[in-house]
Amino acid sequence: MAEREKTNIILIGFMGSGKSSVGEKLARRLGYQFVDTDLEVETSTRKSIKHIFEQEGEERFRQAESKVIAEISERESQVISCGGGAVLNPANMEELRRKGKIIYLKGDPAPLFERIKESDERPLLNVKSRWEEFQRIFAERKERYEESADVIVLLDSRTQAEIVEEIVRRMGEE
Ligand code: S3P
Repeated sequence: MAEREKTNIILIGFMGSGKSSVGEKLARRLGYQFVDTDLEVETSTRKSIKHIFEQEGEERFRQAESKVIAEISERESQVISCGGGAVLNPANMEELRRKGKIIYLKGDPAPLFERIKESDERPLLNVKSRWEEFQRIFAERKERYEESADVIVLLDSRTQAEIVEEIVRRMGEE
């Protein structure tokens, strides 16, 4: 990628879309720094996401997430993996877009759910009917992801290495 294009690459998408693992591989491939907004929230608050949701509520988590995003957005040459709900606040996307391209890792709900169904790290899904709740939130957010994206990458049944190569190629075309 040419020097002038050394901007941030921002990955958005629903829970289970592989933003963090793809993001890490992509960052390594490009020699960029990898930043995960969930990890940044945990580091800056010194609390787990689960703890923040359960003890302080989703609203406090969203505030911490927006603060972290505003800070990260000042820096360059990063691959940024966003928590699935970061798209809910349009200001987050505006901040991130100033120095980067937003890539939506798009997948169907069933395979996404398959990847995370055993995990108890997603407080939004700590309910009885997890699959129903997953589908409900997915439907609610679907358009947000599409609208926020500069580039849409379809996950289909491709490997993470293939996804990484597609992102590199499409960033070069942009
Ligand atoms: C959330 C997704 C999670 C995390 C938090 C809320 C969401 O991140 O930020 O549990 O609202 O979709 P991942 O998308 O990395 O799972």
